[in-house]
This record gives sequence, structure tokens and C-alpha cells, in this order.
Amino acid sequence: MINKHIRHFLKFDDFKLDDLIYILNRTKIIKDKFKKYETHMTLHDRTLAMIFEKASTRTRVSFEAGMYQMGGSVINLTSHDSQLSRSEPIEDTARVISRMVDIVMMRTFDQSRIEKFAKYSRVPVINGLTNEFHPCQILADIFTYIEKRESIKGKTVTWIGDTNNMLYTWLQAAELFDFYLNVSSPIGYNINLSQIDQKRFKNHLKIFNNPKEACKNVDLITTDVWTSMGYESEKDKRINDFKDWCVTSEMMSYANNDVLFMHCLPAHRGEEVTAEVIDGSKSVVWDEAENRLHVQKALMEFMLLGKL
Ligand code: CP
Ligand code: NVA
Repeated sequence: MINKHIRHFLKFDDFKLDDLIYILNRTKIIKDKFKKYETHMTLHDRTLAMIFEKASTRTRVSFEAGMYQMGGSVINLTSHDSQLSRSEPIEDTARVISRMVDIVMMRTFDQSRIEKFAKYSRVPVINGLTNEFHPCQILADIFTYIEKRESIKGKTVTWIGDTNNMLYTWLQAAELFDFYLNVSSPIGYNINLSQIDQKRFKNHLKIFNNPKEACKNVDLITTDVWTSMGYESEKDKRINDFKDWCVTSEMMSYANNDVLFMHCLPAHRGEEVTAEVIDGSKSVVWDEAENRLHVQKALMEFMLLGKL
């Protein structure tokens, strides 16, 4: 049976702004308690199943630690150690797993695959990264920006590099949180405008051929690997195509004085960002990574218990 009433978080704009703001406010409470070693066991007896069809460090550890810290349990499945690698249909996998657990986090390839899983799931499903989107990461990034600079509304975020899952999620977030996005990518890697609702995004997006121009007077500069998971066969070509899209100290110097640098990690120093920038004083990448833990605890709590 297909349950149309379950709320999934498969892309950033699956949730309305007031739900996202609730989750961000709740994250602050949960993080403050964590820092004071206070327990927060609101998901006692709940079980999270994680399905990884791609590699992960941060997503795995943050979801797993987060669920245990809230009193629940976690089951980790990869494509290698489940029947997924032996062609069990995704809809059958969803039907079975969702009869046994309370919530599912899935990392996979095409967005259509997680959507199919969600369609046949009896429980909420969270996107832990697909080729198209990475909503949990952007939730952590926005929490981190607000934590450091109070509000992101009206600010300008610059994206340098590949037009990937991170960028398309930033785009959805810009429209919801009302900030501006400057994007600079090499020729041949332009945003696929046919893939986005241009009417919705046109006031929030500016495209630049020159990455240095895209960094002028902005509040946050962010980038990501040149070759995302699943695109490894293009790696050598991409190293050549993206060589002028490395975030350098010179690029950072064009931005506002209080600019921050973010990267979802894993990073390749000397490719998409210099060591000087990622390890420098404007970089908040370690807080950004840690905040995955806190926002996802708030997210799972919201999806299972609603607003408390
Ligand atoms: N940023 C992120 O999702 O990292 P992992 O691939 O290590 O989970
Ligand atoms: N764009 C990267 C993000 C990794 C967290 C990828 O999809 O591999």
C-alpha cells in the first residue's frame, strides 16, 4: 500500500520554511544540551535503518551517533551486504524494511531511486545524498551560517565549481530562505536551466563566467569536489576543465571582510580549494561537519514526533 500521508525529506523544498526554521531552532537546543553533556532521549526505542549505496564518513557517523544519543537504535545496510546488490527491487526492499523500523535514511544514485523507495515505504525517508540533492548537508550549512552570522536572509552565497547535488540544493535553499546565489562553473558544466524552475529561482541566482567576479562583496564562499561519487570515469577530464575554479585566498579577498568559507567535505586540497583557504581563519568546515549531527537529530525528531 502506498501511504501518501507520510512526510519524507527527499529534497530541501519538501519542507516549508516554517518547518525548516523549527528544525533549526530545535537544533540549537539539542546542540546546547549535547555540549553540556545533558541527555536528550526523545527517540527512545525508535530504530533508524541506513542504506548506503555510495561511500560515506560524515553521514554515517552523524546519523548513527545521533540516533544512539537520542535513545534509539541503528541498522546499517550497504549495497554489498544486502540483497540490493543481488537485484532485489527497491520497492520490495522498501516494503520490507519499513515494516521493521521507524525511519530510513538512504544514500543512493538517481533521485528517482529514493523517490521510488519512499513511495513504497510505510515510514519517513531522509535523503542522505543522491546525484541530484544533498538536503541534510545544506540544512547543516545554513545552521552553521546562522550560528556564526545570525541570519542568512538577503546575504549572498557564492558557489564555485561543479554543478552538482550540493549546488542544486543550495538553489532550493536560496529561494526558501531568501538569499542570493552567485554561481561560477567552467563552460560545459553550466547549470541545467531546463532542470530548474526558472520562474522560482530567477531572482535568487546570478551566473558568472569568471569565478573572481562571482566572489566580489559576498558573504559566504563554498565549493565541493570536482568529481562527485558516481562520476569517477570523468575525473581526468574534470581536473583539467576545473583548474581555474580552485577557491584561493585571492578569490576570498574579493569578498566582504566577514566572509566565511564552507565545504561539505571530503575536500581535495590543491584541487577545488587551497590548503590556505580551507585551513585558514575564514573556514568553518569543522563546525559545518559537526553540525550534521545536531541538525539531523532535530530532523529525525521532527519527522517522528512533529513539533514539540
Ligand atoms: N559531506 C558528506 O556528506 O560527507 P560523507 O560523504 O562523508 O557522508
Ligand atoms: N558532491 C559530492 C558530495 C559528497 C558529500 C558527491 O556527491 O560525491
